[in-house]
Amino acid sequence: MQLVIVQDYEELSLRAARMVARQILLKPHTVLALPTGDTPTGMYQALVQFYQQGFVDFSQVITFNLDEYLDLPPNHPQSFASYMQKHFWGKVNLRPENIHIPSSQVNDPGRECARYEMLIRKAGGIDLAVLGIGKNGHIAFNEPGTSWNSLTHVAELSSETRECEAAAFGGLERVPKRAITMGIKTIMQARAILLLASGAEKAEILAQALHGSVSIHVPASILQLHPNLTVMVDKAAARFLHSV
Ligand code: PGA
Repeated sequence: MQLVIVQDYEELSLRAARMVARQILLKPHTVLALPTGDTPTGMYQALVQFYQQGFVDFSQVITFNLDEYLDLPPNHPQSFASYMQKHFWGKVNLRPENIHIPSSQVNDPGRECARYEMLIRKAGGIDLAVLGIGKNGHIAFNEPGTSWNSLTHVAELSSETRECEAAAFGGLERVPKRAITMGIKTIMQARAILLLASGAEKAEILAQALHGSVSIHVPASILQLHPNLTVMVDKAAARFLHSV
């Protein structure tokens, strides 16, 4: 594991964007797994700037989002598709056919999961997966207790995760109960992983994930076993970390 501790959120965002841009320079047809949430917005902003400055070209890049809520219209303001459109897809030269996100409205979610997993395989697997970490240690929507062997699947969201989203949705009862998420195995099969965390509220879970025992109760702890993991955190999130 490579641990990179930076001063603040701004530096975290820039360093993360540089790592993604480097990957694309090395391999223009890179396959990325991409997160949503508060943590990566600065990274997307920096990537958009790199694109506008002509430093990076997304025309051959293939992207797969980590997850999407189920039972939500894709144009709902809280859908991850809306988030991505606003922060990234709508601002760079990704080809629409190279952008993938699980469908939020499907009759047969199990079939959609199998289709998504197959598309990842067909693209040649993920070169770089960028991840955040939930306060309960989840990665994507792999909540505590998720099997290490999980591929893309339907996840029941934990009450803790739903409570975190309640304000954004205007009430807990409006937060979806299910999502489609890449599984832990899907993520672990990525050739490289970049885990991002910012802020004091992530400090404790990050220390558990990186220094504690590998346990399904802290899904991010499996990342300790990944052969090519970079962890980028700001000082506030790194408070309980020691060098590795
Ligand atoms: P956040 O979410 O970036 O909004 O903190 C991270 C996560 O839940 O994976």
